[in-house]
Amino acid sequence: MVDPPFREALLTGASSGLGRAIAVELGRRGALVHLIARREDELARTREEIRTAGGDAAVHPGDVTDGPWLDRVVAEVSARPGLDLVVAGAGVAESGAGEDTRIGRTHTVLEVNLVAAARTLEIALPAMRDRGSGTLAALSSLAGLRGLPTAAAYCASKAGLSTWLESLRGELHGTGLRVCDVRPGFVRTALTARNRFPMPFLLEPEDAARRTVDGLERGRAIIEYPRRLAWLMRAARLLPQPLWRRLTSP
Ligand SMILES: NC(=O)c1ccc[n+]([C@@H]2O[C@H](COP(=O)([O-])OP(=O)(O)OC[C@H]3O[C@@H](n4cnc5c(N)ncnc54)[C@H](OP(=O)(O)O)[C@@H]3O)[C@@H](O)[C@H]2O)c1
Repeated sequence: MVDPPFREALLTGASSGLGRAIAVELGRRGALVHLIARREDELARTREEIRTAGGDAAVHPGDVTDGPWLDRVVAEVSARPGLDLVVAGAGVAESGAGEDTRIGRTHTVLEVNLVAAARTLEIALPAMRDRGSGTLAALSSLAGLRGLPTAAAYCASKAGLSTWLESLRGELHGTGLRVCDVRPGFVRTALTARNRFPMPFLLEPEDAARRTVDGLERGRAIIEYPRRLAWLMRAARLLPQPLWRRLTSP
């Protein structure tokens, strides 16, 4: 039998939406998947879906903003000799941050999307470096390419994450490790269900998950989808500030 492209993966944000779909896709393709998120019942559901798809998973319920807990779990899982993929996928937007104040929402979004994502990959890094192989990935967003009104912390967290990954990629060049920045457009999940604006080229989570895992298997540094929205956002970076403000004003 041929080995699967990924033997063992660790994924945060695996209890719903895109993270769950990626976990199921990895399991279907033969990886044992370690699932992290806060909701234990939803993680168990992801594990059931993976088993139904012919794979297997282990659940590690907890909060990625609990630094000592995250360090311990990620270090334990990363020490497993088969672990060859880590995906920092846990994320929140302002509308789902569960905070009453603007500064509270900003803090939570930056902490989950940027600080905890970087921490997840930093903790996994030494064991992978010792083995001389592995992929460190995170779910940033095409929303990181330009600032959007009402999503200041979200856009900043994703832009920061993409830049952080780019720096890490430079540092790890020649070590045998890969660093992958996954930048989805709009995907139909609980996170986008709260959006009150048009979402062009909206994808289903399963479609987004296939594109993500295909890109990871090919060793892509940056995975952007859908192509048309990625192209539009790249073009939008060239627009002058007043025009961008007019186009995106709520
Ligand atoms: N949907 C899109 O259009 C889209 C586009 C671009 C990028 N993304 C990114 O893709 C990722 C997944 O988003 P989604 O759309 O699938 O949203 P989602 O369905 O709301 O899933 C978010 C995931 O993050 C986990 N999470 C949030 N805070 C956490 C914390 N403090 N500790 C541990 N886990 C936490 C949630 O689990 P618990 O609540 O169980 O903890 C859940 O599994 C995010 O990083 C998001 O920014 C999404």
